Amino acid sequence: MLQKLEELIVEFRSAIGEVDKKASLFDLKAEYLGKKGKLNLILKSLKDAAPEDRKELGIRSNNYKIEIQDSIDKKLAQLEIDEINEKLEKNWQDITLRDSVRDLGMNSAGYHPVTIIQREIEDIFLSMGFDILDGPHIEDEFHNFEALNIPATHPARDMQDTFWFKDMEHLLRTHTSTIQVRGMEAHKPPFKFVGPGKVFRSEALDASHEAVFHQLEGMMVGENISVSNLIFFMKTLLSEIFKKDVNVRLRPGFFPFVEPGFELDIECLICGGKGCSVCKQTGWVELLPCGMTHPNVLKAGGVDTDKYNGFAFGLGLDRLVMMRYGIDDIRHLHSGNLAFASQFKAY
Ligand code: DAH
Repeated sequence: MLQKLEELIVEFRSAIGEVDKKASLFDLKAEYLGKKGKLNLILKSLKDAAPEDRKELGIRSNNYKIEIQDSIDKKLAQLEIDEINEKLEKNWQDITLRDSVRDLGMNSAGYHPVTIIQREIEDIFLSMGFDILDGPHIEDEFHNFEALNIPATHPARDMQDTFWFKDMEHLLRTHTSTIQVRGMEAHKPPFKFVGPGKVFRSEALDASHEAVFHQLEGMMVGENISVSNLIFFMKTLLSEIFKKDVNVRLRPGFFPFVEPGFELDIECLICGGKGCSVCKQTGWVELLPCGMTHPNVLKAGGVDTDKYNGFAFGLGLDRLVMMRYGIDDIRHLHSGNLAFASQFKAY
């Protein structure tokens, strides 16, 4: 019997060396330690052994039982580690690699040029202490017109061909100036913010007109704000964006929400001022309408006009993109053509 026991442990030690799968390890465990297992069979026949051998047999079989159990536990732990390592090896992912994430919603070569410009301008204004606000695309008459000093009878409503909803109370915002109103409603002066976004107009399309385009509104309200504050911020903006001196001109412009109002034009960077389809052969491109905020607008936004005044501007992002990259037709921007969109370096 002693010999059987010795044979059993030798056999087990070599068998467990062969095991390389959890399933075969469980089989082995049943084979040796199970109720009808090899060790139990020997233990059952202990009573038939000579009385003087019984003690020794008992001790040894118990020790071997512990050894078998231990070896199985260790082997199981080892197999589990191997399994994890194998998975790590096979399904390896570098979580520090960001490219696949950045690819979402963009082409692999870069962001859409409007996004690039928008983010650059946001950064410029953030560094000057401005907040960035958002506003809804679907607006009401109050935020798109009335609060901006454009009453129903005002001819300025015809300046912007509006997409109205059937209820004739809601519309797709025709400009980001709506964000001025929402900004005033939500903040106590002094404040300064910019609000970028899509705007919508029912217009005839050509090289410089799209029905959906992008603007970035800006507003600053505080005590004793002056035209020179406005000019300072506009100049800083343009020199940061173009990274070079551009020729600009300021001329009076009419917008119901500013008084006085200005048009800030830049010399066309597509044709160098000679005249082309983008600048309608004038050599100049209207880029930055702006002005001192009309008191009616401040009042509609809940601002105390005895104490505060301000300025506002509205930047056409698509035109800016065209100037910056030398794109001669605005319709490229919405073409969805990846060959076009992938030419612009990632932000
Ligand atoms: N909202 C005007 C438009 O879309 C642009 C504009 C002009 C915005 C003058 C302003 C401003 O803030 O002061 O045509």
